[in-house]
Amino acid sequence: MERTLDVASYRAAVGQMPTGVTVITSVGERGPSGLTASAVCSLSLDPVLFVVCMDLGSRTLAAVRHSGRVGVNVLAEDQRWLAAHFASKAPEHEKFGTIEHREIDGVPVLNGVVAWLTGELRELLPGGDHMIGVAEVVSADAPGGAPLVHHRGVYRALSE
Ligand SMILES: Cc1cc2nc3c(=O)[nH]c(=O)nc-3n(C[C@H](O)[C@H](O)[C@H](O)COP(=O)(O)O)c2cc1C
Repeated sequence: MERTLDVASYRAAVGQMPTGVTVITSVGERGPSGLTASAVCSLSLDPVLFVVCMDLGSRTLAAVRHSGRVGVNVLAEDQRWLAAHFASKAPEHEKFGTIEHREIDGVPVLNGVVAWLTGELRELLPGGDHMIGVAEVVSADAPGGAPLVHHRGVYRALSE
């Protein structure tokens, strides 16, 4: 089949899919790491597994490889600034320097999130320019509240 797809069409198509906004966290050789991620989902109930997709060039992937642990923080609608913050390439120590968090099961959990999960890495599978991490859940909690949504390239509240 002849391929005529351009990346802009692909991005426009997947951008129509609303997603939650998470921060994937871990602890690497130099301390805590975190990146804003929408490519996160539930995978299995028996065993309890979730999936996180991480860019090959991300420092958080290096931290996950190092520790074998991964956290998922589901952002609240008033945490857009955290989404922008963790999407940046600021030095890693600056990314966590002023951010309120605690460490649970060896990964950073951010304050004020609507839900969080911690997990142990079970598999790291190649997926183009990303790696697909499969993790088994160690702990999870859902403090609740309104989640932040990403749709067509912008952050939205569910009520917008
Ligand atoms: C809305 C949004 C969703 C994103 N989703 C992902 C994702 O699922 N996986 C990923 O690796 N990067 C994703 N990114 C990009 C990372 O957040 C970005 O590359 C970050 O700077 C990586 O940080 P690090 O190198 O400190 O780990 C997303 C960015 C935004 C703004």
